[in-house]
Amino acid sequence: MRQMDNNVTSIRVGYQCPSNIALVKYWGKKNGGVQLPANPSISWSLGDLYASTVIELLPRNLDQAFVFTLAGEPKPSFEPKIASFLTKIASDCPWLSDYTLLIDSQNNFPHGTGIASSAAGFGALSLCLAHIEQLLLDDASLQTEVGGMNFWQRSSYLSRIGSGSACRSMFAKPAIWGETPASNGSSDLFAVEIDADVHPSLSDWKDVVLIVDDGEKSVSSTAGHALLTNHPYAEARFGQAQKNLVGIVSSMKNGDVKSFIEIVESEALQLHSMMMTSIPYYVLMRPNTLAIIEEIWRFREQSGLSICFTLDAGANVHFLYDGNIEETVMNFVNNTLLQYCKNGQYLCSDTGKRPNQTV
Ligand code: DP6
Repeated sequence: MRQMDNNVTSIRVGYQCPSNIALVKYWGKKNGGVQLPANPSISWSLGDLYASTVIELLPRNLDQAFVFTLAGEPKPSFEPKIASFLTKIASDCPWLSDYTLLIDSQNNFPHGTGIASSAAGFGALSLCLAHIEQLLLDDASLQTEVGGMNFWQRSSYLSRIGSGSACRSMFAKPAIWGETPASNGSSDLFAVEIDADVHPSLSDWKDVVLIVDDGEKSVSSTAGHALLTNHPYAEARFGQAQKNLVGIVSSMKNGDVKSFIEIVESEALQLHSMMMTSIPYYVLMRPNTLAIIEEIWRFREQSGLSICFTLDAGANVHFLYDGNIEETVMNFVNNTLLQYCKNGQYLCSDTGKRPNQTV
């Protein structure tokens, strides 16, 4: 591995990484805590809701593993998460101990809107680290396999250790994380792209995130996953997710939009059911969450359009729709759904973009 001497110009690498929205949900970890999923999940990347991170690598001359800034400003509240991440990946990336990382990051969407900012953030950070690793291996082409993984798998692998859902942010096609017979090459260690083309009726969907609540999450996802340990319905849920993963992959390949919608909405409601039936229990929907869901159902029944909703572990609603009907959908959002959004806030994104190198 190449060593930087103190006279060499520092290495600077930057990546923009999308957030993602799960269609079949990751909710629960194996063995009650390690960063491996209890069931496989699948998501679409949200290319217009992303994190941009630049890392500058300096020879370590102070006893400081990293310096973090958020859009150029110090942000001490983010430091413990990054410190813990770097400690967890230390055995995978022993080179880290020779350097100090100057990390600057920012999201293009507001923090605390319930968008998976940790997915985009850990994704962008891990892409930078995997790229730096290639440069230190003297291979700028990103072709060198590390630990039997190509560059994208390695980035996905590292980001998984930071936040499980982040590992699905590396791909343009639907990303699958967790072993499943539904798609070749699937793994618990990193995400892979679906192993076939997605049918045109499901390959160009978009997402409008309707912000019902922009406050702090009432339960962190780490605490949320832990609620599945000793949960009375956990095994049944993991079985359902396995089955839904197989079903959704088949509907994406065959273009069975009806079955796709049924699985996506059922998954969102199962996720919330698990929260409602754990100890302690949580109701994360707000009255406006339900109002939006009912409006979407009513509109779908009247119009027959390809639209549906999904939820994260919070009150906001992801309204998913076929990109071909964008004008009709946006009229519906502005005329009917806007009244339920906190301060009229919503965010729009395409699905299916992969990360970009920026520096
Ligand atoms: C509800 O990836 O945030 O969004 O691995 O503990 O960081 P950690 O959890 P996280 O969990 C995301 C859960 C979810 C569903 C999903 O994205 O699959």
